[in-house]
Amino acid sequence: MNGYFAKVEQLLEKYNQKHVLDFFIGLNHVEKNRLAEQILSIDFEELASVFNKAKEHQFNHSSVEPLEYQRLNDLTNEQREMYITEGWRLLRNGEVGVIVVAGGHGTRLGHDGPKGTMDIGLPSGKSLFHLQAERLLKLSNRAGKYIPWYIMTSPENHDATIKFFQTHHFFGYPEESCIFFQQKTMPAINLEGKLLFSSHSEIHFVPSGNGECFSSLYQSGALEDMKRRGISWLFYYNVDNAIIKIADPLFVGYSACCNHPIATKVVEKRDPDEKVGALYLSNGRPTVIEYNEIPKSLLEKRDRHGKLFFNLAYISINMFRYDFIESCVHNKIPYHLALKKISHVDSNGNTISPSEPNAFKLEKFIFDYFPFAEQMSVLMVEREDEFAPVKNREGQDSPLTARNQILKLHENGGV
Ligand code: UD1
Repeated sequence: MNGYFAKVEQLLEKYNQKHVLDFFIGLNHVEKNRLAEQILSIDFEELASVFNKAKEHQFNHSSVEPLEYQRLNDLTNEQREMYITEGWRLLRNGEVGVIVVAGGHGTRLGHDGPKGTMDIGLPSGKSLFHLQAERLLKLSNRAGKYIPWYIMTSPENHDATIKFFQTHHFFGYPEESCIFFQQKTMPAINLEGKLLFSSHSEIHFVPSGNGECFSSLYQSGALEDMKRRGISWLFYYNVDNAIIKIADPLFVGYSACCNHPIATKVVEKRDPDEKVGALYLSNGRPTVIEYNEIPKSLLEKRDRHGKLFFNLAYISINMFRYDFIESCVHNKIPYHLALKKISHVDSNGNTISPSEPNAFKLEKFIFDYFPFAEQMSVLMVEREDEFAPVKNREGQDSPLTARNQILKLHENGGV
């Protein structure tokens, strides 16, 4: 083994990952080099520290307070007018960009392909991306300016996403206004913290959460692109919300008039077990706790009016001020460990497709940037009008429930 490979071996030895070299002798020169490169790209210190820290993660009950919010339905006509006017002014000025985070897996859904390419069974057969492009086209036509659409993919779905857009001629949206960029990945690890393989010569890297968004915007040059275009606010949403009101002028204007670094929309939680993050105040800072991290004892907790304590459902619809994004690009946010079923190749070269969760993904969450903002504006909206996530094959939050919500909105003239 030459000096280069000896360094790789030492690194693996130090972090108790020597099994990674199990296949090494049988690899050809190119494969050896690629594997060594992969190994050297991994921050083992970080990996080990996340694995150890996550095991001792404790939720701090004492610092939880409710966060103030504004109900959309309580706005006066004058306020609505003012926000909508301001929103259109920013859209017409070209100061608003839109970002969809679409780098995830969609494992719960079982759709083979990027989630945004999914046809949710509407009579038109339109995919989620198609519905979103139509909305953007409508807005842009009214604003007299195309709204730049930043599309975050991951290495595993980047090519398929672009191909889908190309095959559908970008759904009539100008190609130069669709800016694709890839997010970061991290290695998947098994329950003992050991790296997994995706083939006999490759370590298994997986997308490391939507919290990679700011740093990936920066690294890809997309943040610079925003600056060049004069964008002052970025509208953020999940690819799977079938009724997303992209860059809703009222929300744009509301965010700008409040002028806090972040604005977000919330709905009331459907029930204690709904799989949504909860927004609250922790040590005086806006904070979201993810559904699988809320301690069971607190999920059911109610205040003296009988309302759920964690009542504000975070629905992943945010406005970020450009200068806030820029200031956060190098800020550290934690990785969370998510236990998943992850197919991989074992040390005998066999492909393992587990039926039970067998490994951890390391994920950063976008809302872990929230506490960097001293204040944020929170608008409570109606679920029926704004939030139809497509997460599960059937039952709640499925293509069927999303279709029904779309049809209802059509009946009421809401779309
Ligand atoms: C997410 C929120 C949850 C919120 C819910 C509302 C996070 C971490 N959780 O839950 O608090 O209540 O939406 O619907 O945001 N994604 C990437 N790259 C990744 C992983 C995910 O771009 O590496 C994208 C997905 O494509 C999707 C979005 O992030 O558009 C959220 O995905 P997911 O991680 O599945 O979170 P949810 O369970 O939907």
